[in-house]
Amino acid sequence: MIYVLNGPNLRRLGTREPDVYGAETFADLIALCQATGRELGVEVEVRQTDDEATMIGWIHEAADGKIPVVLNPAAFTHYSYGLRDAIAQRTAPLVEVHISNPAAREEFRHNSVVAGVATGTIAGFGLRSYVLALHAIMEMASK
Ligand code: DQA
Repeated sequence: MIYVLNGPNLRRLGTREPDVYGAETFADLIALCQATGRELGVEVEVRQTDDEATMIGWIHEAADGKIPVVLNPAAFTHYSYGLRDAIAQRTAPLVEVHISNPAAREEFRHNSVVAGVATGTIAGFGLRSYVLALHAIMEMASK
């Protein structure tokens, strides 16, 4: 099992700033992650929330179950020390992903408060960022 967890505004993919995040919808993202899971032989559960407490609860659940996570923290990336401290409790891999490349955007997006407690970060490849992250987790698990 791998959790694919998405933070605020990501359910609005497709209508949200399509010049930045593309035309594909959140339903397309779910389908892509599940197809990748089938290809890799692992169950993938995709969730989204706009609520910080809910996201922190899901990270606790993953930490307790030692479940690997692909996490797009969205705007939480840049300010949520609560999310950072939750991520620090996990032992299974957690890959931070971004659809856009935050380093190439506004100044406030250049800092990630979660990057330092993630296994690694993949950003800037559109929805492919999630596919790459799922592959990375499966490669780590096979080593
Ligand atoms: C994002 C980048 C964040 O800066 C932004 O707040 C998001 C989406 C991305 O996937 O590119 O909501 O995480």
